[in-house]
Amino acid sequence: MDSAVRINDVSFFYADDDPDDDDASIEVVSNPSEITQVFRGISTELPVGMMSVVGQNGIGKSTLLLLASGRLFPHEGTIEVLGTDTSKFADAAFDPELEAERNRLVSFVYQNMEFESEAPVRELMEFVLENGYHETKPIGLIEELIEAFELESALSLKTQQLAKGQLQRAIIAFSLLYGSRIIMMDEPVFALEEPQKDRVFAYLLGFSRSQGVPIYYSAHNLELTQKYSDYMLLFSKTGDFKIGTTKELFTREEIEAAYQAPMDSLYSRDMLYRDHLLRSYGAGG
Ligand SMILES: Nc1ncnc2c1ncn2[C@@H]1O[C@H](COP(=O)(O)OP(=O)(O)OP(=O)(O)O)[C@@H](O)[C@H]1O
Ligand SMILES: [Mg+2]
Repeated sequence: MDSAVRINDVSFFYADDDPDDDDASIEVVSNPSEITQVFRGISTELPVGMMSVVGQNGIGKSTLLLLASGRLFPHEGTIEVLGTDTSKFADAAFDPELEAERNRLVSFVYQNMEFESEAPVRELMEFVLENGYHETKPIGLIEELIEAFELESALSLKTQQLAKGQLQRAIIAFSLLYGSRIIMMDEPVFALEEPQKDRVFAYLLGFSRSQGVPIYYSAHNLELTQKYSDYMLLFSKTGDFKIGTTKELFTREEIEAAYQAPMDSLYSRDMLYRDHLLRSYGAGG
């Protein structure tokens, strides 16, 4: 297995219970009960390909992706993305050049996206492609994305005018137009209708394979992850995880061992989680 990301003996904790507090990691913690240890001494390699990150709520999927993309930083150990140590990007939030270098290496589609623009979606797509990092600008990519992601009706609208599902599809389109060497996505399709999820993921899988761009995403929908990933990172209930091809890891035995629950009950939980996300972030469409 070729690797795109190396995780070397990494430990990470959140030093606060408040998930909205961005400064949590730099606080001095006097009370150990305020620490949420998410990873302790993990070492692994993440593959070149499309990989789904799967496991029960709160197990660490988002945190792992944020670490692997240089948006969070380990307290111990190191993470290399295509050979670059992410500690280099610790100040990216304050240094636009560093931020651009990081984003060129790896972009991140956040779960709770907010995006306001003056320009309409079509113009943004052209801008992102023009100013992004594809070495040769892929001809016809914009038109292809409009079709695959059903963006026709969104093209003349500003992002703040879009329905949640439209915005989600537009943002995924931007991430492909941008041309980073790796793309990571946290719950990228929760607001989409079922057939749209299939179309978007089918496109992403084709893109990842044809362009050789690793795409890692977390998703609660097990059916989709089975259909649309080459590799899986499967968290077990204990917080350990396995990485393997989807073919070898997506078996009833492995999934039930990881979740410690019957497979059939997990499909209904997907639906509950989707409802929960839609309630948190507003209506779909
Ligand atoms: N900003 C934060 N501050 C404090 N604790 C956090 C923060 N973000 C996450 N946590 C905690 O870290 C652990 C891992 O959370 P994470 O969001 O990575 O899990 P997840 O698998 O993505 O969950 P979900 O399925 O809900 O998306 C959880 O216990 C969570 O409560
Ligand atoms: Mg998450």
